[in-house]
Amino acid sequence: MAEQDGSPDDHLVVVDGVFFPKFFETNRPMKEQIECIKALEMRDDDVILCAFPKCGTHWLWEVGSMLLSGKAEHDKRAKEFAMMEATEIEKTRALPSPRLLNTHVPVSMLPRQVKDKKVKVIHVYRNVKDVTVSLFFHAKQNPGMENFTIDLLMNTFFSDKGRKGNYFAYLKGMDEFIKSNPDIPVFNVSYEDTKEVADACSFQKMKEVDSSKDTLDHLPRVQMYRKGEVGDWKNHLTVAQSERLDAAMKELEGCDFRFRYTL
Ligand code: A3P
Repeated sequence: MAEQDGSPDDHLVVVDGVFFPKFFETNRPMKEQIECIKALEMRDDDVILCAFPKCGTHWLWEVGSMLLSGKAEHDKRAKEFAMMEATEIEKTRALPSPRLLNTHVPVSMLPRQVKDKKVKVIHVYRNVKDVTVSLFFHAKQNPGMENFTIDLLMNTFFSDKGRKGNYFAYLKGMDEFIKSNPDIPVFNVSYEDTKEVADACSFQKMKEVDSSKDTLDHLPRVQMYRKGEVGDWKNHLTVAQSERLDAAMKELEGCDFRFRYTL
């Protein structure tokens, strides 16, 4: 199909039946890049985030980066800096530890050392219908893809050309990898469950459900979910009260807690 039809074909490079956007290619053709990924030396503290495109890779990468750094600060660099198929392998090799690498390549293209070194893997997956819609809107933004349609995307998805790397092949490969390598620590999580947990644990949601929870009969019912903010003390403490608490805090000198009074 020609590019003016909105076909993605002209924008893709196929390696062993797996589609990659041509613009991912950096200093070597994608086929060579894949060989470099397979040969990449792993470190004991590496974590690899694996996902089929549009399953929530950015989200989990941000969460993982924050957990690894111990700070709720957004990494200044986009996750693509640590995306193995879209970055010069020399740069991936030079990333400081602990590395949270990420990739859409199927398990057959992961670094061989993942198995030997039992590298930690996070796998996020999502229902095929939302992936289709998300991928469609993503792809349509690229130059030359203005006439792209969901049907064209599905034709590519289900074509023989890309069968080995499509959504189903990706997930079947991952499932087989997990089942045949029980000693590799894989954290397998769905986009939908992650979203449900994140939403369920918001302050507002917890406040809403609190009144319907069973509670111990001998405890008085009080409002547990008041404001849930950092810094509300400024609305309620006098300067003298605040200074008194500052002085009292000296008792904790030498303890390794980092208190923050505002965000
Ligand atoms: P939608 O296009 O349905 O909005 P990936 O990072 O693998 O490319 O996945 C992108 C999808 O994850 C997009 O889905 C995007 O909006 C969604 N996403 C990214 N961050 C998210 C977050 N913090 N919470 C929920 N969804 C998120």
